[in-house]
Amino acid sequence: MKILDTKFMKGFIKMADDGYQMGWHERNGGNLSYRLKPEEVEDIRQRLNDNQTWQPIGTTVPGLAGEFFLVTGSGKYFRNIKVDPEACLAIIEIDDKGENYRIRWGLVEGGRPTSELPTHLLNHAVRFRATGGKCRVIYHAHPANITALTYTIKPDAKTLTRILWQSETECAVVFPEGIGIVPWMVPGGTEIAEATARLIKHYPAVVWSYHGAFASGSSFDEAFGLMHTIEKAAEIYLKAKSVGIVNTITDDNLRVLAKAFGVTLNPAFLD
Ligand code: 13P
Ligand code: ZN
Repeated sequence: MKILDTKFMKGFIKMADDGYQMGWHERNGGNLSYRLKPEEVEDIRQRLNDNQTWQPIGTTVPGLAGEFFLVTGSGKYFRNIKVDPEACLAIIEIDDKGENYRIRWGLVEGGRPTSELPTHLLNHAVRFRATGGKCRVIYHAHPANITALTYTIKPDAKTLTRILWQSETECAVVFPEGIGIVPWMVPGGTEIAEATARLIKHYPAVVWSYHGAFASGSSFDEAFGLMHTIEKAAEIYLKAKSVGIVNTITDDNLRVLAKAFGVTLNPAFLD
């Protein structure tokens, strides 16, 4: 099957373009990865190349040995993905130890997978375990409001989660576990990857202070929808805060909401 005609490729490109249209991907900002299903790999196997050398991932992900991922390329612009996916994206294979990757398709003009590959793969490994294998998408974006919000609070998951839960009624239903946050760190390395992975074990998304956010999901819709919900709540908070907050969603409101929607809110984040 033609790789560009597959459903997962179309879904990936649509999500990347949706993110660009939202204004979350200035220049080469942000990156996206998708773990292929075994049948999706079989459908395209004849069109994969095997002439590329193995490269170190920069971390070890034994739980992802042998998996295939569709990922954005480092330095590639989200606005160009729809126009030239073969130059902007790559399908990579992980070796049998989870230490190296090789490019099996894409990046036809050269280049390498996103500089955040260690964070993407560690997050995939952790969310795979946390969701019983359901998680397939890890998404990094630079939305303005959630990034601006990190300048106004201590980098603390309880503080951030309560602000978001109280800024839009359905937030607590969308992410009842809460949202994690890491303090400012140098992007693109193993240290920030490990700090993010420690948090994404407990939360479906993690905010990077003064930088952006990582969201996970079982589908493109779920990961995009989570990023969108977080960003919109942050926007509402900043708007309300700039005028002056006189009322809010109370903890009792949150408890009633959780009961009505059948979700369990992280008790550590309720007062
Ligand atoms: P890449 O172009 O390497 O994906 O980096 C973009 C980015 O957002 C780094 O955090
Ligand atoms: Zn970034």
